Amino acid sequence: MVRKILWTSLCILMGTAGADITPDLNAGRKKSETCVACHNTDGNSTVPTWPKIAGQPEKYLIEQLKEFRKGEKGGRFEANMYGMTHALSDQDIADLATYFASQKETSGTTKQEWLERGEKLYRGGNSKTGVPACGPSCHGMRGEGNPPAGFPPLSGQHPDYIAEQLKRFKDGTRSNDPNGIMRDIAKRMTEEEIQAVSNYVSGLH
Ligand code: HEC
Repeated sequence: MVRKILWTSLCILMGTAGADITPDLNAGRKKSETCVACHNTDGNSTVPTWPKIAGQPEKYLIEQLKEFRKGEKGGRFEANMYGMTHALSDQDIADLATYFASQKETSGTTKQEWLERGEKLYRGGNSKTGVPACGPSCHGMRGEGNPPAGFPPLSGQHPDYIAEQLKRFKDGTRSNDPNGIMRDIAKRMTEEEIQAVSNYVSGLH
């Protein structure tokens, strides 16, 4: 009985929390003007250290923007993105996320030298060190991610950026991964495995 009342109140609370924010695509397009210097108009950055954000799941984009907004108190501090997000409202974040999620990500390529090593790790993991496969269950057969779960696509993303994020998960400077899942995986990976899988998945599609 008590439990039932608790659940009911929780659902009502969650319902109202989402109800006052309706993402507005056109407002998001307008607000994205401040992002283009680094991420480009359609979210397909051409600079390897700035991620492509086109076509990423809305849920993932919202989570990342809210985390950047927390600044040094959060699990993903980065000075550029803290500067860009600290004054954003939840409505701004929802609008921006819906806009960038509606864009199409451009594809990448994999250099021959990374193909075999990268594919082996991406599809099979490393049973000796306990690294699980990246796909299909979490990041997809083709690196397309898992939008309902909020797991980002990796296909098309800049290899240098993916490798940098894996290193940050590995040393714990990025800690906004649910249940520490990425920190646990990345700390088992060697530098070489990080390079191989980042380069492989970038060209996978
Ligand atoms: C001065 C350059 C710059 C500007 C302007 C900028 N960003 Fe970024 N953005 C970055 C960098 C650098 C990162 C990578 C941060 C990291 O390493 O954690 C990033 C990361 C992100 C990510 C995380 C992507 C992922 O794969 O996890 C999102 C989402 C994002 N930016 C959205 C935005 C939005 C929305 C705006 C405009 C309001 C914006 N950015 C403006 C430089 C910029």
